[in-house]
Amino acid sequence: MEVLETHKKTPELPEKARSIIASLSLSTDDYKAIGDLMASSFEAGLKASGGPKPAVKMLCSYVTKLPAGSETGDYLALDLGGTNYRVLLVRLRGSDQEPEILEDVYAVPQELMLGDGAALFTFIAGTLRDFLQANQLSAGPDGERLKLGFTFSFPVEQHGLSSGSLIMWTKGFAAKGVEAIDKAALPIVCVALVNDTVGTLASCALEDPRCQIAAIVGTGSNAAYVERRSSMERYSDSLAGVSDGGPDGPVVVNTEWGNFGADGCLDRFQTDFDREIDKKSLNPGFQVFEKLISGMYLGEIVRLAIKSLVDDGIIFGGRMPESLVQPMTFLTKYLSEIERDPPKHYYSTDQLLTVDLGLKLVHPIEAVIVRSICEAVSTRSAFLVATGIASLLKRIKPSGHVTVGIDGSLFKFHPHFPERMTRKVQELCPDY
Ligand code: GLC
Repeated sequence: MEVLETHKKTPELPEKARSIIASLSLSTDDYKAIGDLMASSFEAGLKASGGPKPAVKMLCSYVTKLPAGSETGDYLALDLGGTNYRVLLVRLRGSDQEPEILEDVYAVPQELMLGDGAALFTFIAGTLRDFLQANQLSAGPDGERLKLGFTFSFPVEQHGLSSGSLIMWTKGFAAKGVEAIDKAALPIVCVALVNDTVGTLASCALEDPRCQIAAIVGTGSNAAYVERRSSMERYSDSLAGVSDGGPDGPVVVNTEWGNFGADGCLDRFQTDFDREIDKKSLNPGFQVFEKLISGMYLGEIVRLAIKSLVDDGIIFGGRMPESLVQPMTFLTKYLSEIERDPPKHYYSTDQLLTVDLGLKLVHPIEAVIVRSICEAVSTRSAFLVATGIASLLKRIKPSGHVTVGIDGSLFKFHPHFPERMTRKVQELCPDY
């Protein structure tokens, strides 16, 4: 496809559009510099003890063993933190059989994300109760409670494998006060509280035992990896009782890399649009790296870039189209749709702008500009994730092959994200 299209000449973009795209396009040296800053932030997070909290928290998951596939038993699971909230029953049946999975999926109403923590957890307990009833699940005959694993995709300072305290909400959540499900008096016991990155690492390790890094590129972005316990100075006391693998055995670290840059080290790479998004977000000053990368923000970056061209009278006759006036109206899935066309084709862009968003295109260059902005924004995101993965690879210094498990809607649905990301990891880390 690409070869056939090279005869097409892309029309020259107006000066202002070119400068916006240039501001979103970082150089190879920039990515290398960001990688070095990230390596220092990982180190600072691991070393931190008392004093000011580092931007990148490097949280201990207390997971010291990854599954091998031979596990058996019935487990309930909750998954809260992305676009959907899920309740599941997972029946593990050992190495020879696939697990059986039953699941209910809910969209969490916005008033619960932003309201009272108690109401959010009452909602969760209610869904769990309904799920138990619908599937006729109850405590065992000897009163043994059902085991629950809770994937809670937020930064949590864990007290051990199964409990912890929320450090702060991220993404679209800002509920006040957080309650425990215990109060709902259900016949369950929480046996594991894990971040989604840690869950991704565990599930990827099932398919490939060489998996040592996992990342999420969805509504938010984060990564977990296998660290040596002796590097986690802050947790040396609480990890002392863990016997698996001895004092230098493995432990999974939830990096919370989304907050990288909260100490200002990424300021010089931010554009005006990034700064505006941060200012208007639920958590200004925090999750700076995440706001450059994840699905929650990419569409809005594109919308703000479009708006600045409209304000200068360069596109759409100088009037912001009605459908794009409100924040968050340019959805991140539009980037995937627009970039699905072969290079220099604008069928999907035209379709989206004119039919879905009801715009009247004045000049064909408008579609070219919108597509070019989308490409710049999604490429920067893919390259930044690659930079993070390259920094983790350099930290682990694997002696052989390492597998990286990736999940999240942006990674899965954007047509070029995996290829761009892989290419950049290879460029930054040719040795691995
Ligand atoms: C946010 C959360 C983090 C989670 C990530 C992906 O960055 O803080 O815990 O892993 O989103 O869901």
